[in-house]
Amino acid sequence: MACAVGLRHPTIMTYSLPMILKAIVSNQIARFAPGLYVKLTGQTGRGDSTTETAADIAQYFRQCVIDYLDTLVIPQDERASFLQDKAVLEYGPGDIPGVALLLVAYGARKVYCVDRFPLVSISSKNLDVIHRLANMLGESERQRFDQCFKNPRAPEEGFNSEYIEYLVRPNGLSGLQGEIDIVLSRAVLEHVNDLEATFGDMVRAMKPGALAVHQVDLRSHGLHVSNPLDFLSPPSWLWQLMHSHKGVPNRWRADRYEQIVRQIEVECRRFEPTGRFEAEHVRTLRPQLDAAFANTGEDRLAWQGFWLVFVKQAEGSAA
Ligand SMILES: C[S@@+](CC[C@H](N)C(=O)[O-])C[C@H]1O[C@@H](n2cnc3c(N)ncnc32)[C@H](O)[C@@H]1O
Repeated sequence: MACAVGLRHPTIMTYSLPMILKAIVSNQIARFAPGLYVKLTGQTGRGDSTTETAADIAQYFRQCVIDYLDTLVIPQDERASFLQDKAVLEYGPGDIPGVALLLVAYGARKVYCVDRFPLVSISSKNLDVIHRLANMLGESERQRFDQCFKNPRAPEEGFNSEYIEYLVRPNGLSGLQGEIDIVLSRAVLEHVNDLEATFGDMVRAMKPGALAVHQVDLRSHGLHVSNPLDFLSPPSWLWQLMHSHKGVPNRWRADRYEQIVRQIEVECRRFEPTGRFEAEHVRTLRPQLDAAFANTGEDRLAWQGFWLVFVKQAEGSAA
């Protein structure tokens, strides 16, 4: 219930006082004990871990790879040659590097997976996912898939960093320089704590001519109360106090990404919404928005998510 808590600011009243206090305490746990926070919340990165089966998860990763290649408009019969020998950087793989495993199986030379949180865990359910992914592959793909593990007969012993390198870094920044051919992420950029720093890291990591493809989900991730956009009403200082160390949505809207992409040395190839909020929800929320969104137009406010594709320009070429 969105009750008044003695706080008269209309944007604060979206959340009840117990909700606010619980969020502030859990934010401090995430700050000082990120590993404990991940354990306590049972995070997988994909949301509700209780209802999804190993088969669902394996299928999800397969579909992610298909979506990336479709979005990059790579014809079916050119996919293997497109991936051949490519170095890939994936931001925010979640608790299993399923996309990375499939990309290596399909021909990529190496995938770096970078995360701000140490989510990857080879639990028995995730082992089941790995076996299911392996069973989706042809023989030569399967051989490359197996190379991704230190011991292919015991994937729980960990990944072979020649093929899959999992980097847990402060702020999720890879620190790589000019060695990546393809950057990708799905349901990640809306969680990063410093969007400009992440885009800067990604562009530094890319070779000239490298591609980036991102799917971004701008919905509330369960953090709204009644209107699906009301999580945009608490002031930024309160949102930071409640969530800054947890990786919950950073709340930036599509216009912010547009601005950042304009400022970096890339050529935007695709920037398209994946869905829209109802116009009525946008209109009723508009007067209660936090000041951070004062300049966001109604069209961009309505975007529920988007696909973004860009190419890093060669040095010295015009924007
Ligand atoms: C919703 S999950 C998505 C996981 C996976 N991409 C998928 O589609 O299942 C978000 C992921 O982003 C990661 N993340 C959060 N902040 C990050 C940051 N600043 N840099 C890189 N990854 C980050 C989370 O730890 C998590 O792995």
